[in-house]
Amino acid sequence: MRSASVGISPLIVVNRNSGTPLHRQIYDAYRGAILRGDLHPGQQIPSSRILTTELQVSRFPVLNAYAQLLAEGYFESRVGAGTFVSASLPEQLMSVVQAAASPAQIPSGARPVSRRSLRYPTFDRLHTMRGWGAFGVHQPAFDQFPFQIWSRLVARHSHSPQANAIHHIDPRGSEAFREEICAYLRTARGVKCDTQQIMVVSGSQQALDITTRVLFDPGSRVWVEEPGYRLERIILAAAGCHLCPVPVDSEGIDVSAGIKHHRKARAAFVTPSHQYPLGSTMSASRRLQLLNWAQSSGAWIIEDDYDSEYRYESQPIASLQGLDANARVIYIGTFSKVLFPSLRIGYIVIPLDLIDKFVAVRFAMDIFPPYLYQEVLADFMRMGHFGRHIRRMRQLYRERRTALVKSLKDEFGDSVQVHGAEAGMHFVITLPNIASDKEVTERAAKERIWLLPLSTCYSGEKKRQGFILGFGSTPAGQMARAVRKFRAILDSAT
Ligand SMILES: Cc1ncc(COP(=O)(O)O)c(C=O)c1O
Repeated sequence: MRSASVGISPLIVVNRNSGTPLHRQIYDAYRGAILRGDLHPGQQIPSSRILTTELQVSRFPVLNAYAQLLAEGYFESRVGAGTFVSASLPEQLMSVVQAAASPAQIPSGARPVSRRSLRYPTFDRLHTMRGWGAFGVHQPAFDQFPFQIWSRLVARHSHSPQANAIHHIDPRGSEAFREEICAYLRTARGVKCDTQQIMVVSGSQQALDITTRVLFDPGSRVWVEEPGYRLERIILAAAGCHLCPVPVDSEGIDVSAGIKHHRKARAAFVTPSHQYPLGSTMSASRRLQLLNWAQSSGAWIIEDDYDSEYRYESQPIASLQGLDANARVIYIGTFSKVLFPSLRIGYIVIPLDLIDKFVAVRFAMDIFPPYLYQEVLADFMRMGHFGRHIRRMRQLYRERRTALVKSLKDEFGDSVQVHGAEAGMHFVITLPNIASDKEVTERAAKERIWLLPLSTCYSGEKKRQGFILGFGSTPAGQMARAVRKFRAILDSAT
């Protein structure tokens, strides 16, 4: 049921100088709003007393108008509850309502939009948003999240907030939360930072947007991993940057190839802990080579460290930022994987000399991040729930990953190649004879199997066909069945 604006008065403008009596103006305004569909059946109407105050008229015209609307069946009153738009408007009236529901505005005439807006691809619901279930990438084990603890913390912080919680805060976010993030990054990720360098953002996506605004001009050349993270490329392309795809192999981005073909780039965007999507970890020698190139050519490195909490075969690998002696790395992290994506909370670790620039851009963008969940998350971390959750999930995802790899091997034997299953919540598979991974993805979606086509991660012409499979949200016991379903879809497509 639509619940729009209970108790909100509709926009009624009365004109005391008009020849039309006030009660008629009020009546016409309500009737018109109902016929246009602005007020919907069952919606509560403010009491005559409230409307009288808001319109600053005497009570009689309001009472008169309400009486007439009641008599004609536009309104109904429910004892003890108030006055409502009739839940069942007369049929004759409904046909008028439907006719009136056609768009009230028809776009016409010149309608200029920015060139920049044309550089964004049309939004489609393809990958992440279609459905919940088998192989959904970016889907955590939602049912395992400690919502009881979480809701207690939300209640605590909503119950009697401090004045600073409902007032403006630093554009970088809550100090207490930034302290927690800073301590976590220093301890768990080997990041070199202090609290003033941390900026809380609405997920990595906003981090990338702010970073792009600070660092790049139209025409700036930026290395992007090939294949790589599509949403980063969208931001760079929209900013007018020149994308320089650099191949990745088992050691991460091929720095020599990058230097050979695009030495003069302004920056490199990399996922060194867990290359997206192929899953390799950048080797130590590549890390040093990349840092050396950046220092010698005055370039920046954007490190997207999106899911490094989950490693299954080896110890977590320290961040690239922690190796950097020259403050060339902008480090970006997120709670989307480790907690859940709808939190929309991530962070940037900003080199000291760039803090003012990042703050200026952020302030112009959305002034500062929403406060409540920052405080909740600060407590969640301080009280040890965050660390516990990571440890539990690491075990759970390890089981889910192992079950998925086994089910794939059972079903496809040696013909399936699994890439990068040592970490994270997804891996890539390639199979022979896949003509179009996009087409298979479309078919699979009809069966509620949520694949992500590997080919969409390439920016160049040469695209490898394959699938990114998430295993975060599917229990180990359900993997074999899901893989059999996937197999049947593939068989019917080839
Ligand atoms: C490479 C990469 N970076 C970052 C993210 C997280 O993005 P966000 O923090 O905007 O949800 C994802 C997906 O979850 C990803 O795949």
